[in-house]
Amino acid sequence: MNIAQEIVRDSHISVVMDILYSRVLSEKQYGAIEHSKIDSLRDHFCCASIKQSPEKIYGSASNDFFLRYGLTNLLKNYYLLSELYQLGLLPSVKNILDLGCGPGIFSLAHLLWNMDHPELCNKPHRIVMADGAKEFLTLFETLWKSLEVKEKDSFTITTVSTLSDGTFPTELSRPDMIVFSNSLSEMLRDPRVEINQLIKSLIEAQAVIFIIDYHYDNTTALLQRFTANLHAYYRNISFYKWPYWNDFFQFVDLDKVEYPFDIGWNQRTKIISNVKFLKAILVPRKRQIRSRSPAFAELVMQYKNAWEQHDIEVLRCLFTEDATYQEKQGREPFVGIDRICEYWAHNAQQQTNVQFFPLFITEENDYLKCIWKCKFYRKDLRRWMILNGVFTAKIKDKRICFFEEKFERTFTGDE
Ligand SMILES: C[S@@+](CC[C@H](N)C(=O)[O-])C[C@H]1O[C@@H](n2cnc3c(N)ncnc32)[C@H](O)[C@@H]1O
Repeated sequence: MNIAQEIVRDSHISVVMDILYSRVLSEKQYGAIEHSKIDSLRDHFCCASIKQSPEKIYGSASNDFFLRYGLTNLLKNYYLLSELYQLGLLPSVKNILDLGCGPGIFSLAHLLWNMDHPELCNKPHRIVMADGAKEFLTLFETLWKSLEVKEKDSFTITTVSTLSDGTFPTELSRPDMIVFSNSLSEMLRDPRVEINQLIKSLIEAQAVIFIIDYHYDNTTALLQRFTANLHAYYRNISFYKWPYWNDFFQFVDLDKVEYPFDIGWNQRTKIISNVKFLKAILVPRKRQIRSRSPAFAELVMQYKNAWEQHDIEVLRCLFTEDATYQEKQGREPFVGIDRICEYWAHNAQQQTNVQFFPLFITEENDYLKCIWKCKFYRKDLRRWMILNGVFTAKIKDKRICFFEEKFERTFTGDE
């Protein structure tokens, strides 16, 4: 089981699914899908040459879109919210701008995530949803009203119907997260959107950027231009692989494909050979190490030294005598500094040329969370390995007394 699957398993997503089926996706209420409309939507998704504006396309097919894609898109949004939580970013996200919101998939996913994890949510949330298709906004309002759950009270949602030229709606002066859920490619190819203006707005916002999308061949050049322009300002920290779950994701081949922006591309091989999923959580490079406490930032640098140099003495100073080190879920943790040092000494025999990069640090009370990337050569396997991970450390008297890490590994092709 990979980390993504663990997140979904631990999130009781089946509970969420039940709510969705019974309250949101009731076909009785919204009628059956008209397949001819889905076919024209598909043409719209993959043919940049179609000249009709998105709102014309979706106007008469808003219910069909929701019935056909709603649940899949919602699961992906829900999943990416779980990843945001795992990466320690959720508490800092309260003012959200959802661009190309459609029927409000992100807001619904966020509500469901809140219902599922009441103790983990930092409330309240303000979401400004922007879409050119008024029918979607009306559909969202109906759906939202039909959900009789108290968690709704912590959301203030404003819908905006005007299409932007790349300038953000003024209803939210300082968004701390900008969502593009299956809308980025579409916006980039909308002739009314000034790509340079959109990029300028994103750079000015210095917010977390949340991207879920499909990738068709016809959008490659636009996405490359987008990523190349943002690269100096934002870094992608999303690395968990999409989960295989239920029927929805079972065909997703989770291999990552390198791309200019290092966006996590996930190739979908078995259904339609030329379609790729993409997801990314971009954070401003300027805010990478946001630790308020220099001691926490220092600790991460010591950890870096300890790993890169395999320096057991540095490690001894980093952890308390009785520290617990949870290396992998489901495995017995190492308890006590001697066991931890033993484990690291074993790693030192296998790894060489270690390069550890802390990508993002967050902190809450005594807890430090660090998102990291690490590359090293595995002597025993004679291959380079890249790990993407996150660790959580509880700090006591400037030392780590509890440590938990999660990571995913890939081999590079080089010998
Ligand atoms: C594929 S739908 C995605 C809807 C929803 N976010 C989801 O994940 O299911 C793309 C949405 O982007 C909207 N859109 C495309 N270009 C837009 C623009 N320039 N301004 C606002 N909305 C736009 C369309 O109207 C459509 O609702």
